[in-house]
Amino acid sequence: MVGGALQHLHSLRLIEADHGRIRTLLDEAENERMHLMTFIHITHPSGLERLLILLAQGVFFNLYFLLYMISPKTAHRVVGYLEEEAVHSYTEYLAGVDDGTYANVPAPRIAIDYWKLAAVARLRDVIIAVRADEAHHREVNHEFADELA
Ligand SMILES: [Fe+2]
Ligand SMILES: [Fe+2]
Repeated sequence: MVGGALQHLHSLRLIEADHGRIRTLLDEAENERMHLMTFIHITHPSGLERLLILLAQGVFFNLYFLLYMISPKTAHRVVGYLEEEAVHSYTEYLAGVDDGTYANVPAPRIAIDYWKLAAVARLRDVIIAVRADEAHHREVNHEFADELA
């Protein structure tokens, strides 16, 4: 959302084409919001955890905004690496489901609708879909960082 907004303003300011970057970044923000909405249905966070999400957003949004103003290239590189970490985390999560650490609960309705999963889909299918999204974000952000270099 930060990148989308700043690329939008950049395009307006310089009257310059955005080469589809704005749409791509806003779509990524929406996709990440759906990850949150989905996992809220699976993990049912406590009030304290919701507070942590709120604080993390307040800190991260502003710091990231500042970073993006200073160096969009670095900002996209950072996200590229964060997404790589996300791919690893979801891989570990998947292993945890497979070895029984986490129950392979039915996929929530919101996830079935969003990723067009089978009606009988389970957490395992959701994690695989989300991990594919993260891998795509990783590629896109590293590409943007390369283009802006
Ligand atoms: Fe995500
Ligand atoms: Fe992501």
